[in-house]
Amino acid sequence: MGYREVYEGWQADPERFWMEAAGGVDWVKAPTRALNDSKAPLYEWFTDAQVNTCWNAVDRHVEAGRGAQLAIIHESPVTHLKKGITYKELQSRVASLAGALRAKGVEKGDRVIIYMPMVPEALEAMLACARLGAIHSVVFGGFAANELAVRIDDCTPKAIIAASCGIEPNRIVHYKPLLDAAIDMASHKPSFCVILQREQEVAKLIEGRDVAWHTFQYGVAPAECVPVSGDHPAYILYTSGTTGAPKGVVRPTAGHLVALNWTMRAIYDCDPGDVFWAASDVGWVVGHSYICYAPLIAGCTTIVFEGKPVGTPDAGTFWRIIAENKVKSFFTAPTALRAIKRDDPEGALVQDYNLKRLKALYLAGERADPDTILWAQRHVGVPVIDHWWQTETGWAIAANPMGIEALPVKIGSPSVAMPGFDVQVLDEGGHPVAPGQLGAIAIKLPLPPGTLPTLWNAEERFKKSYLSHFPGFYETGDAGFVDEDGYLYIMARTDDVINVAGHRLSTGAMEEVLSGHKDVAECAVIGVSDELKGQSPVGFLCLNKGSARASADVVKECVQLMREKIGPVADFKRAVVVDRLPKTRSGKILRATMVKIADNVEWKMPATIDDPAILDEIKVALQTLGYAKG
Ligand code: COA
Ligand code: AMP
Repeated sequence: MGYREVYEGWQADPERFWMEAAGGVDWVKAPTRALNDSKAPLYEWFTDAQVNTCWNAVDRHVEAGRGAQLAIIHESPVTHLKKGITYKELQSRVASLAGALRAKGVEKGDRVIIYMPMVPEALEAMLACARLGAIHSVVFGGFAANELAVRIDDCTPKAIIAASCGIEPNRIVHYKPLLDAAIDMASHKPSFCVILQREQEVAKLIEGRDVAWHTFQYGVAPAECVPVSGDHPAYILYTSGTTGAPKGVVRPTAGHLVALNWTMRAIYDCDPGDVFWAASDVGWVVGHSYICYAPLIAGCTTIVFEGKPVGTPDAGTFWRIIAENKVKSFFTAPTALRAIKRDDPEGALVQDYNLKRLKALYLAGERADPDTILWAQRHVGVPVIDHWWQTETGWAIAANPMGIEALPVKIGSPSVAMPGFDVQVLDEGGHPVAPGQLGAIAIKLPLPPGTLPTLWNAEERFKKSYLSHFPGFYETGDAGFVDEDGYLYIMARTDDVINVAGHRLSTGAMEEVLSGHKDVAECAVIGVSDELKGQSPVGFLCLNKGSARASADVVKECVQLMREKIGPVADFKRAVVVDRLPKTRSGKILRATMVKIADNVEWKMPATIDDPAILDEIKVALQTLGYAKG
């Protein structure tokens, strides 16, 4: 069956489609129905099932005779180490960790925050929570203590599992002091913290609160898998919205299992035993779905990579890892390829390695620019598959389903809608637009299994953010168009979210931080085009009337403040002091026009602008930062 037949088969009978897909999961109690629409427009899947995620990702493969197969390969160029963990070893490590967590009171439904770098123990911590039915929330290491504190207060974890440190090429990331500071800041206090001591930096443990990863497992009984109902939250993953408060995306257990298992064959063309590598971080959705869960659910070997695409030690690292580990499907962000292309424009390092086992290279997280795709096609010599998804969906909305049918690649498009997603491009009034016409991209409800049923502790916010603008649809926040062949093109966000090196960031959250500086009266943050990172944040600061502070000092302090409040991942390094911000007559800051001026693209004077002369001042300010040179 080709893509068209599969998609039309889903359209004709979604219930049958998903019940068939559910056959790939090992149930404690099999579902009798797929969709539960009793609370529409809120939907759940497989609610009458009982199941355990860890069983499906680990134990069932041991039972099926895959115990000796590597489940995880840790490739860590930053520590010069490489090691493997078999499914059998993973089972016993995860059961022991889960047993120790249980002995300290962690039970089904309790939340556990995981704050760890790219080490296999991060996956083990996620799986140990899944084994107990505890709900994990992984926080990316590049966030500051303040961001961690916000998440602690929102999901009120019973425990936090962290490492003593992470390793960036230029420095050690001191996880433990960040964790301590976050717990100090938060109103909610976890009962205990588990610390994985790494030899690069051993942390001081706080007596009575902190326990060491190995020591606390001593003598405990390993835990068995605890069955949970299909709609039980597997995890919460926070992502950026338009305000400073992150959104806690909830991932339901059964839909997650069914959908991810389906994607490994249909999209990534992988079978049990194949080696799959997603070079992302466990702190992002790509890391949840395609470093940890999907490859393990499918019985593949997954690679945990602790390094960078360049500089650890060079731009050949990706190709070495693919060749040495016989990777079949590889997934990365366009930014990473741009970094490699910049260091190795002729692809000389690619030629050093035998990549014949690699079948396809998948890209997501941001728009894939044609130059990068063409470079990869030419040098890596495999199909380069752009696909589009979001933290909220957990798997691809649009892709080229290589395991069903390799559709012709159209550069600039993440190809076609996957079964489960009825994607429509709408005008402001919610009416579908003609092919080729730009509009807001929305998905007809219900969303398929594995996607978010709601936001943690914030059902009203969920409805308001996603369901209210276009009744009957989920609003993706992306704008784009569909061509005559049904290929999607994702062009921009419709909100204040920007995408820096494949990381989703909120300019609204950054503005909240800048407003907190005592000399800043008003501010704006925009995302300007960046050759390497796709977008890069730039701040505009209006100082308090009569402020005698030197602009350069305030800018420096604001850059530091952003690092302290949001973290290095915000990559906020450029800001400029201006007298005034351009606004509409009703007082709305004209951020989109500022972006166009910065990027040297054609722009029209907004009809509603209050004072057009301010845009000239903005242009001059941008020029001092090296933008708006055209
Ligand atoms: N823990 C702590 N700090 C981190 C971190 C982590 N896990 N990851 C990044 N940071 C820090 C970096 O050290 C850097 O800090 P600095 O300002 O002190 O230098 C800052 O956050 C920005 O990091 P990064 O975005 O990695 O930029 P870079 O300039 O160091 O590297 C690239 C550029 C292109 C190599 C890098 O951005 C990259 O690998 N991108 C791919 C990202 C990716 O795979 N995203 C997928 C999401 S699906
Ligand atoms: P995140 O939730 O961090 O995965 O970010 C999701 C957002 O990243 C999407 O809403 C898009 O704006 C953008 N994005 C992800 N994948 C793609 C892609 N293949 N093409 C264009 N934009 C993408």
